[in-house]
Amino acid sequence: MRQYNLFEDHSSQMQQIINVASIQQLSPFRYPGGKTWLIPTIYTWMQSLHCTPELFIEPFAGGGIVSLTAANENLARHIIMVEIDDEIASVWKTILYGDADWLINIIRSFDMTIENVNAVLAGDYSTDEEKALKTIIKNRTFHGGILAKGSGLTKYGENGKGITSRWYPDTLAKRINHIKQFKNKITFMQTDGMNVIRDNLNRNAVFFLDPPYTAGGKRAGNRLYNHHTLDHERLFSLCGRMDNFLMTYDISDEIEILAKRHNFETKEIPMKNTHNAEMKEYIISKNLEWA
Ligand SMILES: C[S@@+](CC[C@H](N)C(=O)[O-])C[C@H]1O[C@@H](n2cnc3c(N)ncnc32)[C@H](O)[C@@H]1O
Repeated sequence: MRQYNLFEDHSSQMQQIINVASIQQLSPFRYPGGKTWLIPTIYTWMQSLHCTPELFIEPFAGGGIVSLTAANENLARHIIMVEIDDEIASVWKTILYGDADWLINIIRSFDMTIENVNAVLAGDYSTDEEKALKTIIKNRTFHGGILAKGSGLTKYGENGKGITSRWYPDTLAKRINHIKQFKNKITFMQTDGMNVIRDNLNRNAVFFLDPPYTAGGKRAGNRLYNHHTLDHERLFSLCGRMDNFLMTYDISDEIEILAKRHNFETKEIPMKNTHNAEMKEYIISKNLEWA
């Protein structure tokens, strides 16, 4: 498998559709709207900074592939990941601060039958570790990995393999173990990302922002995430006060207008969605000369 190297020039690859299989998968999540395809762009952006930032902040972390890559590849001295959702946060809290070995062991020994899945789903859990297990089981067995209310168990899965079609316990265990190795580089906060942005504007940080977007988008963020409402106007205003940021959004007139009003540059980056259809998304920043 080809791994990307920070010091390579990725600019020519940026015009092509990235083969997601060529990117090192670090996250235990399969995440709707995940940004694995954007990793080469992230490398090119970070290279353009010419020095390693003290702080890299991802206020809407979700499956966290960008923060994990930044930590694993030493793209910044420290990383702050923020996520408001309780289920997703339980996984990050367990891996970064809790009993990750308990989670790994139970994933390795879990017998993926419909009875066992239903028993976990019916569980009313209180510890982060138990909630993390339930979240991972849901993420691996629910249609499209979608955790939002209204989602449910996949009927057919891949190749008719149903709930087992996305269950790779050894891979999950390896990924969690790998994150443990660089976890000291990451601070996770379960809170509103907007507040973390506000509180860190003067800290010489770089921000990567992938907010939930529902308004004009095709992504139907309200179907994908339990937390999907956001004041985009305010987010753009906060970005205007940042030294350096990179944001991604679905393409829409509303976002183009917002970007223009704040004198930000936009560029369309090709990607493939979960159904393998070719799509484009915006990257947005104060300056995209490097892209
Ligand atoms: C588009 S997804 C991020 C996907 C992520 N970039 C990835 O690669 O997996 C947006 C995430 O923001 C979270 N979110 C929504 N509102 C938030 C808020 N106010 N503060 C922090 N996180 C929020 C959602 O729960 C969702 O996980």
